Amino acid sequence: MTIKNVLVIGAGTMGGGIAQLCAQQGLNTVITDIDLSFSEKARARIETGLAKRVAKGKISEEDKAGVLSRISTAGDLSPAKTADIIIESAIENLDIKKKIFAEIDALAPRDTIFTTNTTSLSISEMADATGRPEKVAQMHFFNPPTIMKLVEIMPGNKTSAETLAAAKAFARQLGKDPVVCKNEAPAGIVSRILGQLLNEATWLVASGVAEAADVDKAMKLGANHPMGPLQLVDLIGIDIHRAKMETLRKKLDDPRYQHPPLIDEMIEKGHLGRKSGRGFYDYQA
Ligand SMILES: NC(=O)c1ccc[n+]([C@@H]2O[C@H](COP(=O)([O-])OP(=O)(O)OC[C@H]3O[C@@H](n4cnc5c(N)ncnc54)[C@H](O)[C@@H]3O)[C@@H](O)[C@H]2O)c1
Repeated sequence: MTIKNVLVIGAGTMGGGIAQLCAQQGLNTVITDIDLSFSEKARARIETGLAKRVAKGKISEEDKAGVLSRISTAGDLSPAKTADIIIESAIENLDIKKKIFAEIDALAPRDTIFTTNTTSLSISEMADATGRPEKVAQMHFFNPPTIMKLVEIMPGNKTSAETLAAAKAFARQLGKDPVVCKNEAPAGIVSRILGQLLNEATWLVASGVAEAADVDKAMKLGANHPMGPLQLVDLIGIDIHRAKMETLRKKLDDPRYQHPPLIDEMIEKGHLGRKSGRGFYDYQA
């Protein structure tokens, strides 16, 4: 199946990056959110990012114009009617995602493939909100989607082998190097391993063992990690990180994923990481 038209649902950190990636690979891409202004802001962020790359001489003005010409914006799900593939990347909330899947199922052609970028919610439950569970799979991108080479692909319990093969081929079409999980398992591979690592790093700060900067420095210099775990938590978003820990703790029934109270306090104060200007580090300066 040749994919030409993509719909990305959710114009946040990941949706914007995924839309840019698709457009950079020559695909007609629509980005949608609960309000048109959110999609337009995402497109404006992409434009600003591309302008910086032009200024640095990394891409031409024509490249930038080409990418932008392939990104259109919407404020509802009607572009599902013409999508070959849909990438759902809305907020990490199962009820909202199930509602989205039921709605796009009513709109999209029968052979349109539905994928979700969920970090740790059930693929099968989203698939069961549609009349085409065999055509639903996870495609889990990494932040930032334009740069990170990996896409993890995971089936729900009714996903067909054809859908998994199509998702894998699509990831390759996007210039990615995919891995495929054999069965549905909470959080796949990277997030499950990283979850333990990031959680332990937050406990080190919360229990007063070390400052965030020293935890990060230790892992960069002592374990050769390209970035520190708390820098990564800030990049992911403290709220998204907590949601992932809660899901892993419940689904794997494993107390090692219990987050420290410090994380709740940070969320209460609105310290959500880079996106809010403050997390374990202050980005406002
Ligand atoms: N942040 C990461 O590093 C990362 C990495 C991989 C996967 N994910 C997953 O990607 C998804 C999106 O994460 P994000 O970091 O971009 O979140 P975000 O908070 O930056 O953006 C979420 C967007 O979803 C929109 N939204 C909410 N309800 C909607 C609806 N009914 N219809 C359409 N849009 C709706 C919000 O308005 C917002 O713009 C989540 O499932 C998350 O777990 C995140």
